[in-house]
Amino acid sequence: MNTVIPAHVGIIMDGNGRWAQKRSLVRTQGHLEGLKAAKRVVKAASDIGIKYLTLYTFSTENWKRTAEEVGFIMGLIKQYLRSEMEFSIKNKIRVRHAGDFTGLPSDIQKEISDTILETAKFDGMQVILAINYGGRDEIIRTIRRLVKNHPDMENISEDEISANLDNPDIPDPDLIIRSAGEYRTSNFLLWESAYSELYISDKLWPEWEKQDLEDAITEYNKRNRRYGGL
Ligand code: IPE
Ligand code: IPE
Ligand code: MG
Repeated sequence: MNTVIPAHVGIIMDGNGRWAQKRSLVRTQGHLEGLKAAKRVVKAASDIGIKYLTLYTFSTENWKRTAEEVGFIMGLIKQYLRSEMEFSIKNKIRVRHAGDFTGLPSDIQKEISDTILETAKFDGMQVILAINYGGRDEIIRTIRRLVKNHPDMENISEDEISANLDNPDIPDPDLIIRSAGEYRTSNFLLWESAYSELYISDKLWPEWEKQDLEDAITEYNKRNRRYGGL
C-alpha cells in the first residue's frame, strides 16, 4: 500500500500535567518531558516527510494558569528555540509563528523573531509554533487587518479571509492530532480545520514517540475525505 503523507499536520500536545501527576511530580516536570517529546516528534515528522507541522504550544486561554506555570512554559519555549537551532540548520527546518505575537513577553518575541529570521531561507519542513494562539483570536485579528485594508467588507469572501490569516501561504491542516484523550480542539486552527481529519490518542504527550505519529498517519490513510461531496 502506498502511504499518503499528510502535507500539514497539527498537534494539540496535551497531557503534560497528567503525566506528572501520575508520577507524583510537579506539573512543570511534565512540561519538561513534553518538550523532549516535541523534539522527538519534530525529528520524526521531518524524517517522514511532512511538509508543515503546527505545534499547539500555548493557547490564548493558557494565561489562566498560575504565574509559575506560565513562566516555566515561556522559559521552555526560549530554551527550545535556542537549543534546536543547530538541529534546524542541519535539517533545513524553517520555524514560523502563529498567534498574537504582540501579546507575548518581549524576550520571547525577540527569540521567536531571531529564529524565524535565521531559518527563513530553509526549504525543509516548516514548524509552525502556535504560541499565544487562539483560533477565535486569529479570526478577530484577521478581520481587523481586513477592515483596515479592504474597500468592500460587505462582500468579503472566504478566500480573502484565508489570505489574511497569520500564515496565509500554509495549506489547511490535513490531519489534527490530539494526545491525552480529550475530544475537543480547544480553539486550535478554528478556520483552517474545517475539513481536517481528527485523530485522538489516549497517550499522554510526554510519552509520544515516532511510532505514535506513524500510527496517526496509518489511521489517516484509512479516511475517506469527501469534503461534502460524494
Ligand atoms: C499541555 O499539557 C501543555 C499546555 C497546554 C501548555 P497540559 O498542561 O494541558 O496537561 P494536562 O491537560 O493538565 O494533563
Ligand atoms: C490545549 O490544551 C492547548 C495546548 C495544548 C497548548 P489545554 O490543556 O489548554 O486544553 P483544555 O483546557 O483541556 O481544553
Ligand atoms: Mg491540558
